[in-house]
Amino acid sequence: MRSDMQRLQAVIFDLDGVITDTAHFHFLAWRELAHSLGLPFDEAFNERLKGIDRMGSLALILAQGHKRYSEPEQQLLAAQKNLHYQRLIETMTADHLLPGALEALVAVRAAGLKIGLASVSKNAAPVLDRLGIADRFDVVVDAARIQRSKPDPEIFLSAAQQLGVAPAACLGVEDAVAGVQAIQAAGMFALGVGDPAVLVQADEVIPGLQAFRLERYLGPPTALACCAPPEGAAPSA
Ligand code: G6P
Ligand code: MG
Repeated sequence: MRSDMQRLQAVIFDLDGVITDTAHFHFLAWRELAHSLGLPFDEAFNERLKGIDRMGSLALILAQGHKRYSEPEQQLLAAQKNLHYQRLIETMTADHLLPGALEALVAVRAAGLKIGLASVSKNAAPVLDRLGIADRFDVVVDAARIQRSKPDPEIFLSAAQQLGVAPAACLGVEDAVAGVQAIQAAGMFALGVGDPAVLVQADEVIPGLQAFRLERYLGPPTALACCAPPEGAAPSA
């Protein structure tokens, strides 16, 4: 942990791309909408939408064309995409938990730490239900009450506040660049999940939660200075 951090008291997880891979479902739903409007959409573009809320994502997609859409039209398009997305996530079960996700939640709980969820998805609650892990979280931030999307720190700060834990005693876990920026701006330790070459602002990056080693973040900073990164972990800078 960084020397400016306090003893760890809570871990706040992002959902999409960290605990489960809903990115593909978002991709399918956005692609259908984009193509129906004659706009390009591919996996690379979808990467840019990770961690970005629904209306922000739509704005980025529409900005690729020249047609302007009124606010009611945009709401309709977003609702259309969301209906499609909701149909897709109906197929989800506990089998859709990413490797190591359940084990990470169990380890954090066993260590007596609090667990929060910071997802800007308004579908987070049904997804947690489908995965069968809703009761494992002390706090799930209601995305509908958040004013500003990641990279703004609001959602992580709100989770910490509802958990009653200082941001400097929190570890945030994120797969998106915007999410890592939000954690850093919140004054938390940022653990990136994915590619260190992409998540350059993270304090540390692991390829997936199967490489999550809670004990690494529990001790005082001096105790960790001696330790080599766990297998699969890479410092991002
Ligand atoms: C997550 C995903 C984004 C998605 C956002 C809003 O952050 O990474 O790709 O746009 O949630 O999801 P929603 O379910 O509210 O449309
Ligand atoms: Mg994510």
